[in-house]
Amino acid sequence: MSKKALLFGITGQDGSYLSELLLDEGYRVVGVTRRVSTGNTSRISHIMDDPSLTLVEGDITDYSSVLRIVEESNPDEIYNLAAMSHVGTSFNQPILSIDVTCTGCLNILEVLREHSPHTRFYQASSSEMFGDAITERDGELFQDENTLLNPQSPYAIAKLAAHHATRLYRQSYGLHASCGILFNHESERRGGRFVTKKITKYIARLNKHFSENADRESAPKLHLGNLDAKRDWGHAEDYVRAMWLITQQDEPDDYVIATGETHSVRDFLVEAFDQIGIQDYSDFVVQDPRFMRPSEVPYLRGNPDKAKRVLGWEPKVSFAQLVSRMIDYDISAL
Ligand code: NAP
Ligand code: GDD
Repeated sequence: MSKKALLFGITGQDGSYLSELLLDEGYRVVGVTRRVSTGNTSRISHIMDDPSLTLVEGDITDYSSVLRIVEESNPDEIYNLAAMSHVGTSFNQPILSIDVTCTGCLNILEVLREHSPHTRFYQASSSEMFGDAITERDGELFQDENTLLNPQSPYAIAKLAAHHATRLYRQSYGLHASCGILFNHESERRGGRFVTKKITKYIARLNKHFSENADRESAPKLHLGNLDAKRDWGHAEDYVRAMWLITQQDEPDDYVIATGETHSVRDFLVEAFDQIGIQDYSDFVVQDPRFMRPSEVPYLRGNPDKAKRVLGWEPKVSFAQLVSRMIDYDISAL
């Protein structure tokens, strides 16, 4: 009998790639979708006719729907990818962020403890939990599984509480519950308000503008916030493979998943503009206070040594490949 996986957050970037991976591995996949007034299944439309995929309606903040879905599907594995995942928005909607991202996780853990302790659980923890904390060793600056967690946003506080709850339920009730502490990962399917996608969609527009022989003065401008922040950016396809590997281990545990490289938002801009032959982006980019955050995470660079050693996981997509894949996709989408 093939294994069954239940995904909260199947309609998101990671949910779509993880569903593809699980279907390829022969799983039966049950995905939870929210009722919304407009469609939210565009990222999974290409697999919706797969007979091994079932969609059920529910909301992670509603304990009764989580209980019903887990009881009816009786999964071998649950992946909790559901979150209000935009850090900037979490400053404006802190209570919703805690409800979805923290209480939602607790709803699943409580259902597992009381009704389905055999089910393995994966929690999507985040490098945002490190906040401004950095480990320094041999002149290297990074974050790993032992770095202090010092969150700097309502989103990160919610993720930190969910992270500790997952560890607590593992230790106290013997659940096979693991966390992947994932650093930023992007893709062709990334949501439009994250900085990488904002940049690559803009590059596609600018490319079209110039290809129609329009002049430099009438070119659209790109409005961004803090360009100095540094992030460890990988490709989502690589990162969902790590989620699955974590869940297959005999013992549940927590792992940092990252490339080990860091680049500033400026570096991303330089790489992206270079792809359409523009060496100096300064005429096109406007720093806009609307996109600055009340508190910022200045530097993220993960140390994925444990994941490499224990899981045999390695990222395959480089920073330059990530940028060019996103731009190629956005140009063809236009
Ligand atoms: P995403 O594209 O924003 O997807 C979030 C998913 O959560 C969507 O399917 C969304 O459904 C669902 N969701 C939101 N509120 C919900 C609710 N109340 N009930 C049920 N589902 C709900 O995020 P992602 O980039 O795929 O990330 C996946 C997970 O990894 C998130 O938990 C994120 O916080 C975490 N994470 C992401 C990164 C990264 O760099 N991408 C790094 C570390 C951790 P709708 O489609 O209906 O909105
Ligand atoms: N979104 C956005 N929009 N960010 C901007 C902008 C802008 O216009 N201008 C500069 N930035 C900066 C942000 O201030 C931040 O320092 C950096 O670009 C990355 O921002 P995001 O792409 O929004 O990602 P994030 O790092 O805040 O959060 C993402 O990664 C986390 C893991 O570290 C999200 O995917 C989170 O869900 C995830 O947990």
